[in-house]
Amino acid sequence: MTDSRKRLEELHRRQAEAEQGGGARRIAQQHKKGKLTARERLDLLLDEGSFVEIDRFVTHRATDFGLADELYLGDGVVTGSGRIDGRLVYVFSQDFTVFGGSLSETHAAKICKVMDLAVRNGAPMIGLNDSGGARIQEGVVSLGGYADIFLRNTLASGVVPQISAILGPCAGGAVYSPAITDFVHVVRGVSYMFVTGPNVVKTVTHEDVSFEQLGGADIHAGTSGVAHFVHDSEPQCLAAIRELIGFLPSNNLDPAPVLPTTDPEDRRDEELLDVIPANATQPYDMHDVIRRVVDDGLFNEVQGGYAGNLLVGFARLGGGSVEIIANQPAVLAGVLDINASVKGARFIRFCDAFNIPLVTFEDVPGFLPGVAQEHGGIIKHGAKLLYAYCEATVPKLTVITRKAYGGAYDVMSSKHIRGDLNLAWPTAEIAVMGPKGAVEILFKDQIAKAADPAAETARRIEEYTETFANPWGAAARGYVDDVIDPRDTRPRLIDGLRSLRTKRDRNPAKKHGCMPL
Ligand code: HXC
Repeated sequence: MTDSRKRLEELHRRQAEAEQGGGARRIAQQHKKGKLTARERLDLLLDEGSFVEIDRFVTHRATDFGLADELYLGDGVVTGSGRIDGRLVYVFSQDFTVFGGSLSETHAAKICKVMDLAVRNGAPMIGLNDSGGARIQEGVVSLGGYADIFLRNTLASGVVPQISAILGPCAGGAVYSPAITDFVHVVRGVSYMFVTGPNVVKTVTHEDVSFEQLGGADIHAGTSGVAHFVHDSEPQCLAAIRELIGFLPSNNLDPAPVLPTTDPEDRRDEELLDVIPANATQPYDMHDVIRRVVDDGLFNEVQGGYAGNLLVGFARLGGGSVEIIANQPAVLAGVLDINASVKGARFIRFCDAFNIPLVTFEDVPGFLPGVAQEHGGIIKHGAKLLYAYCEATVPKLTVITRKAYGGAYDVMSSKHIRGDLNLAWPTAEIAVMGPKGAVEILFKDQIAKAADPAAETARRIEEYTETFANPWGAAARGYVDDVIDPRDTRPRLIDGLRSLRTKRDRNPAKKHGCMPL
């Protein structure tokens, strides 16, 4: 055999060894747990045959604890680039079969290399995390490796979209990098995220808690708000990441992809006329409004299981990506509370960073009163939402369907904070507060003295409703640009978006603002 053939064989042998990760036994264990391997995940995530691996022959350099004899090609993470619907993305996929996917100095260097490539080439960065955290045998160099990643996550923030999937038990440093990224996907029965696991919790706080209860998928999707998407299986999760990428530009200078649609731009929706219940205290599902307006009824909801009183997500209007933010009257009457404010603020900032227009559907009775909210800091958390809307310079379009009361009127993309197109339905009620509350304050004495207090209250409410609970006061001052037939909502928004395509606006020069965190 010629020397070059022998060397080729050597290459093939090493390639095959790298494919095996931690070996057949550990791959079998991974499958037994119902989990895919790092490479199987990439096969599902990326367009077929598009993955180009780099650094597959990297090994760690540690020698303590017998590590000198335990070398695995790739060192527990598969890295490289690939395509999603033909568009370039960079990826890393941690291999739990090698030291539990734990992060060594070299493992971290591999991740940093693809992150640098993603930023330099302006492509999204997707991390598939399945890691026991810092590689314990390496000590401080693995901690240094995490810090190198955190820094890159932070510098890449707002430059390229960063998406994380948690596909195993992720502890310690393995959760902080995903936490800095833009979207976190979790899978039921597979994903666990915690800073410290149940054993440490037991030692420190004496609490008995299972993996699932401490940091399972539903906890992070429903209670902590750490996760943005929850799925029932890994294939579903990877398909959802592909779908999400379809709404996003590759970087902060490129436009988001436009998807041709057969849904007519001038489509009017008759049902929108009857969405708002006759009684102003009756709820309705804002999902219905959104789906009737956007292209093909497709709303890609983000954090659907968390703070359901505010809906956020992606959709398309006339083919272009938009961010939808909507009060949800069917949950807590659509009131703004701490969780909803933080959820909305974060999403607005993402879309502003990536030039995705904001479309707000508004039906909000105000901020949620109460001791728990006040003591929990609704003032500073609500201010986050206000700050995010004020700061955003992307096209901002608003449709007030019903209530726009109090501070919440100002917050929800009002004209005063640079709303570009503010529309109201005839059913809009724009006032300092709802009729009942207002009357009870303004006419307390008159009602108390009246022969029939209930009748007096009803009369005063009717009078107040006539005067204030309508869109006309705001329209008279130009605070809303137009009061529209609800059936025209889709064409009006698409037309508005078209005129705003060339919008230029900027904030004063500064290092950065001081958001009320
Ligand atoms: C080295 C590790 C490892 C780690 C797991 N392994 N975690 N090796 N460093 N951090 C190895 C195991 O020795 C084992 O090797 C293999 O991975 C699989 O681990 P198991 O424990 O058998 O798997 P499982 O029962 O599924 O439990 C998974 C786990 C558990 C929950 C992740 O391994 C675990 O608790 N690991 C430690 C988590 C942790 O505390 N990490 C440090 C966080 S501190 P073999 O050879 O048997 O296959 C941190 C600091 C950074 O990350 C902070 C920055 C802010």
